[in-house]
Amino acid sequence: MKVTVVGSGYVGLVTGAGLADAGNEVVCLDVDKQKVAELNAGRVPIHEPTLDTLIKRSFRRGLIKFTTDVDMAVQHGDVQLIAVGTPPDENGSADLAYVLKAAENIGVRMQRRTVVITKSTVPVGTGDKVRATVQAALEKRGAKHEFAVVSNPEFLREGDAIRDFKQPDRVVIGTNEPWAMALLEKLYEPFVSSERPIIEMDLRSAELAKYAANSMLATRISFMNELANLADDLGADIEAVRIAIGTDPRIGPQFLRPGCGYGGSCFPKDVSALIHTARKDAGRTLEILGAVERINEKQKSVLVDKIVRHFGGDIMALRFAIWGLSFKPETDDMRQAPALSVIEGLLERGAMVAAFDPVAMAEARRRLGTDRAGLDYADSAMSASADADALVLVTEWSEFRLVPVTDIAANLCRPVVFDGRNIWSPKEMAEAGVEYFPIGRPRTLASAPGWAHRV
Ligand SMILES: NC(=O)c1ccc[n+]([C@@H]2O[C@H](COP(=O)([O-])OP(=O)(O)OC[C@H]3O[C@@H](n4cnc5c(N)ncnc54)[C@H](O)[C@@H]3O)[C@@H](O)[C@H]2O)c1
Repeated sequence: MKVTVVGSGYVGLVTGAGLADAGNEVVCLDVDKQKVAELNAGRVPIHEPTLDTLIKRSFRRGLIKFTTDVDMAVQHGDVQLIAVGTPPDENGSADLAYVLKAAENIGVRMQRRTVVITKSTVPVGTGDKVRATVQAALEKRGAKHEFAVVSNPEFLREGDAIRDFKQPDRVVIGTNEPWAMALLEKLYEPFVSSERPIIEMDLRSAELAKYAANSMLATRISFMNELANLADDLGADIEAVRIAIGTDPRIGPQFLRPGCGYGGSCFPKDVSALIHTARKDAGRTLEILGAVERINEKQKSVLVDKIVRHFGGDIMALRFAIWGLSFKPETDDMRQAPALSVIEGLLERGAMVAAFDPVAMAEARRRLGTDRAGLDYADSAMSASADADALVLVTEWSEFRLVPVTDIAANLCRPVVFDGRNIWSPKEMAEAGVEYFPIGRPRTLASAPGWAHRV
């Protein structure tokens, strides 16, 4: 099939690469000239495991092209997949300017029957706006090409995006046009099976399904974070509680890990956009999601609060190592990353920070600047923590788990560790002589029985 992907960011590149690898002829369009030049020079501008191999293979086979040429791109595809950003605007709703611009570009140039697919995460009702935009552009030039609008929300997880694309849990397709549904069934056929089905529905339900999924996951995280703080106060161990409830099949183990808040390009903006849509289009207040948002904002300061308390209220001129800057492991994405709040919180109080991340160093320099007073970028985890007054773990990269806790203790100026993701065992930390501050776990666990060590 001839496919045009509009927007070559995380979603556009993964989708384009996945579809090209299955034998489709894909053109990826972007307005960012530098990004397109890099892609054409064989460099993939984001860190996503195996994405570059996939792109290079299809590039060599002539199945994927990158361009800024809108005419060429729109004329190429029978299927036009919109995967541009939908950032929050100042009141928290999704900014649809990029999506509607992409729709207009299609309407202005399409020359035959076309399926316009929205893969970007968009509020319920956006499909109608996309349809009206394409229709208006066609009418303006007196053209009468048939087209269908489809919502095909993306559920990929950064860091696992290729696997998620090739073996999706499900593919959601929302359209009111049977011929477009049939075309998409064909497009996704190589990736689905009876266990990984296509779920067909109307357009509005598909748009809502994406927000429902992210809001549910964010809710689980905020629920656990709230309970973790309670566990801290009551002297219970949230990790034991997590396992106790996660083994209940009605609850399941996923997204129950407490931590220092969720971030990323999706959860914060999607929760906020759904709250806004409900208020604006239905006059409803989404009580649960309001709380989810507030809890998450508070949770991003939980590490700095613990640090300040531990050091008696004054951390001026103390030096902290930050391990992990991306919003989660296996990505260099720092959008809304909790590490940004932690670093700002420490710098504001006059502390010094040595930051390290296995892949997000360039992104960190871009976001935080290279001449921030008190902020150093380290070239390894151990050089960040060398002689620091405490280590603060914000993102749970596997390489951090591999460092022996005795080495961590020996490397620090004072053996104090704040663990924002509960990756270490309190018992091992105590045995290594480390003052250890996890989230929602009593430090007295050092003397608890063996199970505490195993969780
Ligand atoms: N990143 C994720 O993990 C993820 C997962 C699921 C859904 N989504 C959703 O997918 C959408 C895209 O997210 P992303 O993370 O890929 O965004 P991104 O910011 O990484 O990429 C968007 C790209 O679109 C380009 N663009 C903007 N306007 C354009 C236009 N008119 N024509 C061509 N290109 C244009 C930008 O230059 C940019 O390269 C968002 O709605 C997001 O919520 C993202």
